Amino acid sequence: MMDNPFVLVEDQDNLRVLTLNRPDKLNSLSADMLDALEASFTHLPTSVRGVLLQGAGARALAAGADIRAFPAMDTREKGEAFARKGQAIFDKVEQCHVPVVVLIQGYAIGGGSELAMAAHARIASPEAQFAQPEIDLGIIPGYGGTVRMARLVGHAKALEWMLSAKRIDAEEALQTGLVNAIVPKEQLLQTGLKWLADWAKKPARAVEALLRCFQDHPTYEQEARLFGECCATADFQEGVQAFLNKRPPNFKGK
Ligand code: COA
Repeated sequence: MMDNPFVLVEDQDNLRVLTLNRPDKLNSLSADMLDALEASFTHLPTSVRGVLLQGAGARALAAGADIRAFPAMDTREKGEAFARKGQAIFDKVEQCHVPVVVLIQGYAIGGGSELAMAAHARIASPEAQFAQPEIDLGIIPGYGGTVRMARLVGHAKALEWMLSAKRIDAEEALQTGLVNAIVPKEQLLQTGLKWLADWAKKPARAVEALLRCFQDHPTYEQEARLFGECCATADFQEGVQAFLNKRPPNFKGK
């Protein structure tokens, strides 16, 4: 079984539990963590019949991409490459041949929300909070969020939430279809494992066929290109510096 500091791997019978492990940074998705996540899905043994994804600690699944890496992402090309890399890794999650269930306890923000949406089902605790706040950094979601959120909750809500950067609580997430269920945090793990164990008893090829039926990415190309354009703006650098220096941003529209 593979293991590394950023994504912990544990098997329970024929189910695999993956834990994003950077709790002091709210499991924000550093390049190392993304590489580890990709490796976890690339090397899945055929004996595994379901994957449970969660964040270490009680505060977050993940609070987004690692903003500390953003100041250096200052050209169109670097931005596009960043988006395409994340898109490809999250595609691996969605294209997994066995069901992937994600548990959301606390924040699922930015890339964390996008990761949750790449899974096949989402179970949240009542304290869960979603958001796509990229606009406040001067960028847009770049890891498939524009596509997947529109698919899950509809264009109108997805666009409103991305324009406003507003927080979505567990109840609203359930009502809009962003999550499948809410259960008390003490029951998250057992519920996720129960769902996966039930699905693991279904015919594997039909399960895989169903998963494939629910995949499509009509506008990935555009998302990565526009994400890259945002990275070449002064407002993006300003938004990132404001976050890192814990002050409000002063956007200039450039
Ligand atoms: N990238 C890098 N570091 C992050 C991070 C991110 N996306 N999100 C949180 N962290 C770090 C913080 O910088 C902080 O580190 P420090 O202790 O070394 O200062 C630590 O994680 C804890 O976060 P903090 O902001 O102190 O917790 P909080 O409870 O005050 O706020 C959030 C929680 C989620 C509201 C806040 O961390 C936040 O807004 N994060 C960024 C979310 C975001 O915009 N994501 C989209 C990126 S595209």
